[in-house]
Amino acid sequence: MNKLSIRDLDLGSKRIFMRVDFNVPLDDAGSITDDTRIRATLPTIQYALKQGARLILASHLGRPKGKPNPRMSLRPAAARLSEMLGRPVQFAADCVGPEAEAKAKALKDGEVLLLENLRFHPEEEKNDRQFAEKLAALAEVYVNDAFGAAHRAHASTEAITRFLHPAVAGLLMEKELEYLGKAVENPAHPYVAIVGGAKVSDKIDLLKNFMKQADTILVGGAMAYTFLKAQGFEVGQSKVEDDKLDLAKELLQEAGKRQVALKLPKDHVATPKIGPEAKAEVVASAKIPAELAGVDIGPATCAEYTEAIQGAKTIVWNGPMGIFEIPQFSHGTLAVARAVANASALSVVGGGDSVAAVAKAGVADKISHISTGGGASLEFLSGMKLPGVEALTERQ
Ligand code: 3PG
Repeated sequence: MNKLSIRDLDLGSKRIFMRVDFNVPLDDAGSITDDTRIRATLPTIQYALKQGARLILASHLGRPKGKPNPRMSLRPAAARLSEMLGRPVQFAADCVGPEAEAKAKALKDGEVLLLENLRFHPEEEKNDRQFAEKLAALAEVYVNDAFGAAHRAHASTEAITRFLHPAVAGLLMEKELEYLGKAVENPAHPYVAIVGGAKVSDKIDLLKNFMKQADTILVGGAMAYTFLKAQGFEVGQSKVEDDKLDLAKELLQEAGKRQVALKLPKDHVATPKIGPEAKAEVVASAKIPAELAGVDIGPATCAEYTEAIQGAKTIVWNGPMGIFEIPQFSHGTLAVARAVANASALSVVGGGDSVAAVAKAGVADKISHISTGGGASLEFLSGMKLPGVEALTERQ
């Protein structure tokens, strides 16, 4: 990584503004239902505290549209972090203003303050300079550990770096860039990319970027039906983007030109009606009967994809193979998760659904790297520059 890291700085007795991604799911009672993102940033927090830093943490949660919203408060995250760290975590009910200023100033070595949701102010998403200057004024050093928000050019990820120098990467940010970087720059071959999800249109740049490096692309999820229809196969009631058939044809041609093996399902799990009680039928050909909708890859495709995955040295996976939330339609996605886990390759999984699938299959600890970024990992793997990374200080 050519950016400065938290490990390059002396943090002792300094006030650190650390942008984290504590955008965690909350239930109706306001309890955190998955604290993975908080846990993932613990090494950076602990590293800073061990050095005697005075830590000011800032994050967004949800999309409150620039207004305070008690249902999107970060207060529960302060409590959870405090449990994890085994020390108090103070909280400021606004991320700027007198309370935040006073609490930041009063921090002693090794103390932690979490600020309220940055997006309660519309200026955050507008990348507003003045707002960024107010955030910057709370601290002396800027650390960005929020890989999950690095694709957003917001005041706390981008504009703030004009006021706090140097701007350095936290340990999680570094780890994400290291692993995802390995997958897009000089990956070991055979390189197998697995792409699923509902829409081809969401994954165009990802597919195009994979075609530059990957030897094999395994396609699943509803997007496969758009590809199959573009090739003239009958897809029955399956979800298809009819306005993307030409695009799908172009992508197939591009793969052919580049000699990338773009694989589509050769059999399916299909159903007359999608729902929790739905009946799953195996369709033993690529062609889906008129009255059925494809909802998962079939057993022959599972076997073919598993074999390709087993032979890989680099694997990147984004997007499920079917509607895996419904148990009858989850076999393909879970089989892929197990195959990725059993492979001796460098394996990187990104995107909320595939990450959830890996957890559901109980194989998370066998994956080389599970990204905490949804949109951010998708954009990174699509070859885009992330503003929150670009804004960090270059290593000389
Ligand atoms: C995410 O959940 O992917 C990140 O926290 C970014 O959230 P956003 O899509 O609301 O910007």
